[in-house]
Amino acid sequence: MQVISTVAELRQRLRGKTGIAFVPTMGNLHEGHLDLVRIARQHGACVVVSIFVNPLQFGANEDFSKYPRTLAQDCEKLEQCGVDVVFTPTERELYPQPQQVMVEPLLADELCGAFRPGHFRGVATVVLKLFNIVQPQAAVFGKKDYQQLYVVRQVAAQLNLPVEIIGGETVRAPDGLALSSRNQYLSAAGRTEATFLYQTLTSTRQAMLNGVTDYAKLERRAVEALTARGWQVDYVAVRAQATLLQPENGARDLVILAAARLGNTRLIDNLEVCLKG
Ligand code: PAF
Repeated sequence: MQVISTVAELRQRLRGKTGIAFVPTMGNLHEGHLDLVRIARQHGACVVVSIFVNPLQFGANEDFSKYPRTLAQDCEKLEQCGVDVVFTPTERELYPQPQQVMVEPLLADELCGAFRPGHFRGVATVVLKLFNIVQPQAAVFGKKDYQQLYVVRQVAAQLNLPVEIIGGETVRAPDGLALSSRNQYLSAAGRTEATFLYQTLTSTRQAMLNGVTDYAKLERRAVEALTARGWQVDYVAVRAQATLLQPENGARDLVILAAARLGNTRLIDNLEVCLKG
């Protein structure tokens, strides 16, 4: 495995290579990321992983400076997974000049975008830059960041990028909590409580599978249940999987998305719901 930190060296290493499968990350890798790497391996002969904590996607009061940076441990894990190249650019390397936001993704101000202004513009911009540098035939993103996956798919389609965007299933702890680098911000009590977000999604999904169609009421109920236990809820929303818009009557492929804070830790999660015809 080679660890490369400059664009020029990476381009040199990948020159003439076809079959590149790419996993962009911000590091602090957990089993969820490693699962994406395994999926990438099935989609390309050369697996490239990037590790870059992208300042452009963090708001002024967010956790950019305290985001965990664990490069040595990350590289060990990636080596064990058989990754070919790890790209670890510095901020100066990736953004040699003050970086303009390059794209205006659909739904950039909806759902998480409403609470993190500029976040998806920052994500789409860095992902496009990384795609231009790595030139993968496939790229894998976790479904845990469902809206991010949607945004990347939309931008890639709108710009006719020759890259297949693949969604990897969310990996969960035994109690259901979705694995996330931000889970480590939780206190012991917070970590125990955190599973309630997943339980709330699960019971909302069960109600939908039982035939409840008043989604606004289910959303309200979920918000109330979380709030009653001390969560500050950004949103719970039932949306159509394909568009992330409010589902039309009779829509069957749905997803429940949620974002809520426990103390200072903001957690997101989602569950797909496929209703029978
Ligand atoms: O999901 C992430 O870790 C980041 O948003 C990504 C896709 C690597 C872009 O910085």
